[in-house]
Amino acid sequence: MSAEHLVITLDGPAGAGKSSVAKALASKLGISYLDTGAMYRALTVKALRLKMDLSDEEALTTLCRNTKLGFKEMPDGSLNITLDGEDVSVAIRSPEITNNTHYAAKTPGVRTLMVAWQRAMGQDRSIVTDGRDQGTVVFTDARYKFYVDADVEERVQRRYKELIAAGKKVDLDQLRTDMQDRDQKDFNRAVGPLKKAPDAITVDSTGLTVEGTVAKIMKLIQL
Ligand code: DC
Repeated sequence: MSAEHLVITLDGPAGAGKSSVAKALASKLGISYLDTGAMYRALTVKALRLKMDLSDEEALTTLCRNTKLGFKEMPDGSLNITLDGEDVSVAIRSPEITNNTHYAAKTPGVRTLMVAWQRAMGQDRSIVTDGRDQGTVVFTDARYKFYVDADVEERVQRRYKELIAAGKKVDLDQLRTDMQDRDQKDFNRAVGPLKKAPDAITVDSTGLTVEGTVAKIMKLIQL
């Protein structure tokens, strides 16, 4: 890793604003953004299309080993996830995928492969990466680690607004229950659980806009 090589990790629960913040931060710094949640989601798209039993960890690991995930650069500089060459950036955001990705996320063999792919992507370029285990497992020697959090009610409201803006029909109470359920699964899984790295800085995004959160992080990094 060269002295210029910069890795910034953003971990935290769903709806804390990580992905919007990571994307904006990467763009501001002129470096790549790695959306690791998109990778677990894309594998879930493939498994559900194949009507697989998602709780079969061996089958899911074999599927993952035989899957090619990639990121395609779009004209606006953002990266769309590809699954065996197909752009699945819209498919990965459906509620069905959101609610079923925890199977891939808790499968040890899948995590081992994902971790290796993520490290490879961060090996020769500067990145802002977001997920649950980026500072604790994947990039333990990252130059900057952040744990982005926000009040649960605000996280629910943000996700609600995102889904409404995308034209989806949403039941707020159901959304809250689903999000709390996913939080519990993220915190409690045996491999790669969501937790703050001891050397991560907590950034509370409650009441802040994306720009406000980026500004808070920019003040904490010295380049
Ligand atoms: O950040 P997200 O909502 O796109 O993540 C989708 C799912 O993948 C969520 O259940 C948590 C899981 N995930 C993970 O286990 N490890 C990561 N590095 C990123 C996401």
